[in-house]
Amino acid sequence: MHRMKACLKCVRCGRDYELDQPRYLCDCGGTLDLHRDLSGVDGEELKALWESRWGAKRGVDASGVWRYRELIFDLPPEEIVTRQEGNTRLYPAGKAGEYAGLKHFLLKHEGENPTGSFKDRGMTCGVTAAKFYRARNVACASTGNTSASMASYAAVCGMNSVIFIPEGKIAYGKLAQALAFGGRTLQIRGNFDDAMALVQEVCRELHIYLLNSINPFRIEGQKAIGFEILQQLDWQVPDWFVIPGGNLGNNSALSKGMEELYQLGIIDRIPRIAVIQAEGAAPLAHMWKQHTPFEPVRNPETIATAIKIGNPVSWEKSLRGLKWSNGVVESVSEQEIMDAKAMVDAAGIGAEPASCCSVAGAKKLVDTGVIDPEATVVGILTGNVLKDPDAVIGYHKDELGHLGIRGTYANRPQVIDPTLDAVRAALNL
Ligand code: F0G
Repeated sequence: MHRMKACLKCVRCGRDYELDQPRYLCDCGGTLDLHRDLSGVDGEELKALWESRWGAKRGVDASGVWRYRELIFDLPPEEIVTRQEGNTRLYPAGKAGEYAGLKHFLLKHEGENPTGSFKDRGMTCGVTAAKFYRARNVACASTGNTSASMASYAAVCGMNSVIFIPEGKIAYGKLAQALAFGGRTLQIRGNFDDAMALVQEVCRELHIYLLNSINPFRIEGQKAIGFEILQQLDWQVPDWFVIPGGNLGNNSALSKGMEELYQLGIIDRIPRIAVIQAEGAAPLAHMWKQHTPFEPVRNPETIATAIKIGNPVSWEKSLRGLKWSNGVVESVSEQEIMDAKAMVDAAGIGAEPASCCSVAGAKKLVDTGVIDPEATVVGILTGNVLKDPDAVIGYHKDELGHLGIRGTYANRPQVIDPTLDAVRAALNL
């Protein structure tokens, strides 16, 4: 397979830039895509190559991202920084499927990545790009998962990482990971949107390589979620993907990947994409439903701290993908998120709150007649259940009343005396 020629292309004005130096935005302010010339590429040959790599035991082929490197970032294996990310499971949704009212509901568990979230797919590519550009220092603003992932990948290849997080507003598991992996962690007195604005200025002024999903290489790596799902489904296209939306990079990646597969004839049908936001942090959903221009949300609020974002950087890319896929945007309440999470958890699968927007959103879209109960639907679970133990325990102890959330499906822990009688009484035996 010959290497495809690639450049950066502005999603707003269409201007092209060479890849010879790092760039995140066009001079017009638009975000950039990695654009490749797919003419003359044989889709069948590409698919056969990817199939031949399935199940590889070692090296870059064993990564669920780099297996697809021809459409990610086609570099010689020794230049790739990988933790064999991806290769995550695609589960029947079980109880969560019944809850959503869907007969054919699968959950792709991206919380099974090396650092416990889908971010590892984008990060392996982003850190490889940092190495390609000979960066020694990398930085990101984060609601937690991106920072955990970046700190890990930077540590693996000996780079310094600088993390900007909103003070007191990220889940403990994520902060713990960032510190453990040696990320220089700066807690900003402000929210994620403040941190995101600051990190862009810092990277520009201090020549640090920026690893938020505004970085086009991050998006390329994240496309592999969709590629891997399709490979797991023997290239049969589901009717719908349902995916949470925060900074809006992940759904942009999903649709970009699908568009490329469609162009190459690897898939023959376009799946619809539903992006689900938390009600208190739903600028895209507002825009979509009210047909108004994009307007950031000033003080975003949600228990799903991963997506507590009011001014997502990738909203234009996201919109493009939604139009292409005949997609929809929906928002869900705090109660809907946590009840859906209780179902995902009780199904034995488990995921962090933001991830469960997929299930809450699927249910709402079935209830409102947008998704047919007979449709084949793949929900993306973006992060591991252990990322946010406070949310789990708060719900099951029914202690989230101050946030307006009831423990509808609470599984309360019980304190008892250390006697057989007390156990009998507790278990009603
Ligand atoms: N789910 C989880 C668990 C996340 O951590 C994020 C984003 C999303 C969903 C939303 O994805 O931003 O691509 O729309 N977390 C980022 C972070 C912002 O800093 O970890 P998105």
